[in-house]
Amino acid sequence: MTLPLFDADSPPRTEPLAPGAVVLRAFAREQAPALLADLRQVVAQAPWRHLVTPGGYRMSVAMTNCGALGWVSDERGYRYDPADPESGRPWPAMPAPLATLAREAAASAGFEGFVPDACLINRYDAGARLSLHQDKDERDMRAPIVSVSLGVPAVFLFGGARRADPVRRIELRHGDVVVWGGPARLSYHGVAPVKAATHPLLGEQRINLTLRRAG
Ligand code: SIN
Ligand code: FE2
Repeated sequence: MTLPLFDADSPPRTEPLAPGAVVLRAFAREQAPALLADLRQVVAQAPWRHLVTPGGYRMSVAMTNCGALGWVSDERGYRYDPADPESGRPWPAMPAPLATLAREAAASAGFEGFVPDACLINRYDAGARLSLHQDKDERDMRAPIVSVSLGVPAVFLFGGARRADPVRRIELRHGDVVVWGGPARLSYHGVAPVKAATHPLLGEQRINLTLRRAG
């Protein structure tokens, strides 16, 4: 499948998702080529890996991190770590344009002064998925989550504060940014299995950048 033309042409706009949560359509689209060039540098220093959940499952999403803190999972649990456990070295620095984009996205969603210190980088190949979860390993829940989607589209699942709450399904396309905070900060969310597709910049991949204030 190739992407329909309107994806590349639709104007930026804000769609409310829930109180405290918005989708900023195409917010990162113009900057995407530069972001991807920066990400290639990050991945050269901290390569993709498939983490294992505390329950012993290998995640289908490949991950790495940049920033002062990186999110990791292993048999012992989930945590933020200042060093890449694979290399023992600090995670690559967060590219300044990425931090600025996240701050501007947060501000557009009503969260001023967002200074991310962690960026989880997720790569979804066809079939990869992320089951419903809350982002709750961060110390201070006052900061929002900023999530940048690049490459092939995916269906984002966005529920409420309880796992059993109804879940909305929202297609996220290249350049879309989702921000959730305040009353939505602990909303359950996930990603449905990514369908095989091709994107001009990223081939068959979807890359998602989740920016957080973790420490
Ligand atoms: C995440 O929750 O860590 C990632 C969400 C996404 O890939 O859109
Ligand atoms: Fe998450």
